[in-house]
Amino acid sequence: MNPLKKLYCRTYQTAFHMALPLLPYRTPKIVRRLQSLPRVLQKEGCRSVLIVTDETVGRLGLMKPLLKALYKNHIKYVVYDKTVPNPTTANVAEALALYLNCGCSAIVGFGGGSSIDCAKAVGARAARPGKSLEQMKGILRVRRKLPLLIAVPTTAGTGSETTLAAVITDDRTRHKYPINDFPLIPRYAVLDPRVTVSLPPSVTAATGMDALTHAVEAYIGNSTTYGTRQDALTAVRLIFENLDAVYLDGSNLRARENMLHAAYYAGCAFTKSYVGYVHAVAHSLGGAYNVPHGLANAVLLPFVLETYGSCIHPKLHRLAMAAGVASEYDSDEYAARAFIRAVKDMKKRFGIGDVIPQIREKDIPRLAGYADREANPLYPVPVLMDARELERYYYQLMQ
Ligand SMILES: NC(=O)c1ccc[n+]([C@@H]2O[C@H](COP(=O)([O-])OP(=O)(O)OC[C@H]3O[C@@H](n4cnc5c(N)ncnc54)[C@H](O)[C@@H]3O)[C@@H](O)[C@H]2O)c1
Ligand SMILES: [Fe+2]
Repeated sequence: MNPLKKLYCRTYQTAFHMALPLLPYRTPKIVRRLQSLPRVLQKEGCRSVLIVTDETVGRLGLMKPLLKALYKNHIKYVVYDKTVPNPTTANVAEALALYLNCGCSAIVGFGGGSSIDCAKAVGARAARPGKSLEQMKGILRVRRKLPLLIAVPTTAGTGSETTLAAVITDDRTRHKYPINDFPLIPRYAVLDPRVTVSLPPSVTAATGMDALTHAVEAYIGNSTTYGTRQDALTAVRLIFENLDAVYLDGSNLRARENMLHAAYYAGCAFTKSYVGYVHAVAHSLGGAYNVPHGLANAVLLPFVLETYGSCIHPKLHRLAMAAGVASEYDSDEYAARAFIRAVKDMKKRFGIGDVIPQIREKDIPRLAGYADREANPLYPVPVLMDARELERYYYQLMQ
């Protein structure tokens, strides 16, 4: 990256870091049981709710206890269940039409990050009827209170239940972009592990590694606080302690609950301290080829860590200790390598490879351009790279 752009990025990031204590971050109220949700809605004076989910979650009947409880408590509901992985602008438009036609006053995102993000974007469009999603792309462009927004994560990965982000794909251009603003932070998050037990091993692994990527990218960035560092370390510890267990036995409720908390803590870390180039590149791959988000992150994470080099070794040392793969007596270099090796080993155990076969060479400049514009100047990454430099990751993943 040329020195002028570098200076611009670092100045921008420093300004945001200094403003961090003044920004209106908040965390959602945690609800432990799905069946408690009608009481929350009643307390908030809500009589009609839109539930945004996807077909698989609908088919598995995960919402049944909620729908029963809503019916019993005379709360009207309408379900939008057409959300696709890497949710699109068309999903948001369809769900918004339901919300408006049914006179709803609250939105529940019930599912993985795709359903929760779709619900957030519906809320943003309801709050800002005159603005398209494209116009809200980037940072601080929603700027208006959303209808009551509740997240029920059924994967343990994205942390969307606590973040200020919604990631949406334009269904015409296949450009996937984040919308970041404080009103998108849900008011309530339901962390009930029972809705995650049906998650198949491959999705469990990929979404868990998404949470790991959030914690790692937030921790190694330049914009951390004491709180976000602690959250990231807790998330890494919980993931290394529990992800193999839920991969091998999806019905292990205690480990499922720990993974939900890991994803939540990782979300708390990155919503304030950002992600990095792993996510920027992964978003472009999700948009262009529908690569599952967690999978793209998992494939990329060790490569990006390796290219950052020795400047992140002291931080990786602390992550390695949280992961239980190094001790304080090891050298930074040794511990950093142990951490990267542990991530690679984890990928191998979960059957996650090193390539994304869908990548077409002719798309690379455009996708690297998307990643560059998403990450620079916002993400306080340890080493800055421009679009040309980011291209290397796409070539690496083609091999
Ligand atoms: N807003 C944020 O802060 C944030 C952060 C990271 C990622 N994201 C976005 O979230 C999306 C990915 O979300 P995700 O990884 O949770 O995946 P997802 O929501 O796309 O779900 C993946 C698959 O798992 C299925 N599924 C979900 N829960 C299930 C369950 N309990 N049992 C069985 N199947 C289940 C879904 O039907 C889907 O087929 C991406 O678009 C990504 O960009 C958002
Ligand atoms: Fe992510």
